Amino acid sequence: MKNQLLLFYCLLSAGVFAQRATTISIESKDFALVLQTDKEERLGTIYFGKKLANAVEYESIPRQDRKVDGNAGIYNSVYTPSGSWNLLEPALSIKHADGHVSTELKYVSHRTERVSDGVSLTTVVLRDPVYATEVTLFYKVYAAQNVIEQWSTLKNGEKQPVLLEKYASANLYFPTADDYWLRSYHGIWAREMKPELTRLPYGIHTLDSKLGTRTNLFQPPSFMLSFGAPATETTGKVLMANLAWSGNFKIDFEKDSYNGLRVIAGINPAASEYQLAPGQEFKTPSLIYCYSENGLGEASRNMHRWAKNYRLLDGNGTRLTLLNNWEATYFDFDEKKLVGLFAGAKKLGVDMFLLDDGWFANKYPRNGDAAGLGDWQENKKKLPSGLGYLVREATAAGVKFGIWVEPEMVNPKSELYEKHLDWVIREPQRPEHYFRNQLVLDLSNPEVQDHVFGVLDNIFTKNPDVAYVKWDCNAVIYNAFSKYLESKKLPQTQLYVDYVKGLYSVLDRLRAKYPKVPMMLCSGGGGRVDYGALQYFTEFWLSDNTDPLERVFIQWESSYFFPMIASCNHITDWSKVGLKYRNDVAMMGKMGYDIVVDHLTPDELAFSQAAVKNYRSLSDVIWQGDLYRISDPWEKPFAGVMMVSADKSRAVSFNYVVSNRYEMSLSISPIKLQGLDPAKKYRITEINLFPGTQSSLDAKAVYSGEYLMNVGFNPDMTLQRTSVVLEISEVK
Ligand code: GLA
Repeated sequence: MKNQLLLFYCLLSAGVFAQRATTISIESKDFALVLQTDKEERLGTIYFGKKLANAVEYESIPRQDRKVDGNAGIYNSVYTPSGSWNLLEPALSIKHADGHVSTELKYVSHRTERVSDGVSLTTVVLRDPVYATEVTLFYKVYAAQNVIEQWSTLKNGEKQPVLLEKYASANLYFPTADDYWLRSYHGIWAREMKPELTRLPYGIHTLDSKLGTRTNLFQPPSFMLSFGAPATETTGKVLMANLAWSGNFKIDFEKDSYNGLRVIAGINPAASEYQLAPGQEFKTPSLIYCYSENGLGEASRNMHRWAKNYRLLDGNGTRLTLLNNWEATYFDFDEKKLVGLFAGAKKLGVDMFLLDDGWFANKYPRNGDAAGLGDWQENKKKLPSGLGYLVREATAAGVKFGIWVEPEMVNPKSELYEKHLDWVIREPQRPEHYFRNQLVLDLSNPEVQDHVFGVLDNIFTKNPDVAYVKWDCNAVIYNAFSKYLESKKLPQTQLYVDYVKGLYSVLDRLRAKYPKVPMMLCSGGGGRVDYGALQYFTEFWLSDNTDPLERVFIQWESSYFFPMIASCNHITDWSKVGLKYRNDVAMMGKMGYDIVVDHLTPDELAFSQAAVKNYRSLSDVIWQGDLYRISDPWEKPFAGVMMVSADKSRAVSFNYVVSNRYEMSLSISPIKLQGLDPAKKYRITEINLFPGTQSSLDAKAVYSGEYLMNVGFNPDMTLQRTSVVLEISEVK
């Protein structure tokens, strides 16, 4: 006994029983995120990068004691609290029940469980040693796609309500790269997805939105972060991300003095303090990120696979081609005119006719955008026989019927506004302020949620054959005040958050009852494209701008984050560019039309009919294939994008000239294709030829995949051949 005690003291003095750090490695197929406790039991990120073969080695990563005033570990916190030791941007700020604003988080426990094949979930529990605040971090790993979906829950264990002042989804830390290059986006109506490359400065660079609804109008919550140098299509380290939240967001990139980078992403805390009752838990939205060390192409292919398998509604399914009447008629139509357009849809060969804005409201008819929104009864003058008649006529014409709605909004000139002023987000003491002549309904109110659900439920109940919905959202929130929150004595600052929760709850109900109906997510163009909303939608409208030249760039940028099957592209008369070019650009995604078919010349009609057929026969490759960006239109005078089938037996190559300089034709050398099987033999056929034109390419030649990917192929683009679509098929 004496000897044993002696041994114990010896070991103790040798530090053997000193507390060991806890290391948590979260691994996908190719990358790892490693967390470790410090001496104070605070959890920090010690590694983000390529996965090591032997996970035990993560424990040897030297601690990067980045000190301020002798305190270590304050930079890399996995969820930085505020008001205690932290001096940097926090992930969490809480006003505790006693009014104190200091929070500390210490590691408590963690575990990893299997969710399904290839999907695991690591949960990490952190707790404040003084206040009963508990934070759980969730890391859902989609191994094969190298995607992590990260979110947090915050639990109030205090006896009184606490106020969440900031509550991020994720607080990432990149300890090692010297330079960080951010590709983010800005925009406005019809000018979505304008990219900007920023070498991140020391201090904080922020992406954010405070618009309430239509939140991507100025900036979407999508970004790419390259480490060391800007990643290219095929090289470089890159993190591609999207915050899955359709409301206000804030994403801070804080480069510290040690050249580490902190990324804190979540709901925007601006005017959004959230009250948590005792025992209540708050779940943040998810940050979705995909990491690659082989460039942007690999990252976006993985992001697409993830979206199709796990997020986008019916991601691996099929889609309906359509004819929309928005640009063809605007508000000026009646049922006779519409029935006439159905015949056009059939003539074109598309699956469906989509009736856009203007079909509803009687007291204040919807003949423009200043009246009627909110009154979802058929306008008796335009549609005396009702929607049912249109659905039947469309069916008789051989096409399905879809419909536009904007159920979250109201025109002050409407019966809904007159009846339910209390449902409208407005500041009673101030003059109303409008966006597109309309206001937003208060979706924090369950009665309003019932109303919005009812708009759709009514349409489907009365017209079960309605096959498609375009769900629009044109206004932002001004004068944020909710009568409902006031009646419940809840803080007004919850409105921005409860609005989105209310919206998702309506969409959950809708999907429970109508799981399959395809729905397009639209917000005055691409004002709401995120992976929060996309779990309910099969596709989205990227921009009202359908000028094909502009569209090449918008589609190009969107293609980094979102798969082609979800990107609705329509052929319209917005620009005077030739029909072939417009058509070829729309084909790079989910193709549709918004034209008067009877205005097409016989050649244009024949071309369009053949193009719809081509699209049909290639749609499985376009929708389910892998995307390769071949030529960057920001750098070269033409854009080149390919889709390749999973078995590499078929591919489509889209090529668009984006400059009309004579120099352009001279600069097109063979383009090196990607994604093919080097050992397979392929034939290349040009499709979508306009009547009377012939391909200048040799349709008989057979090439190996190796040749096409190393020597390349010249699509022979000239100022006369400004768009070239190639079908690439294996020759057995
Ligand atoms: C928004 C949409 C358009 C169209 C109009 C109808 O602007 O983006 O596609 O549906 O509303 O008012």
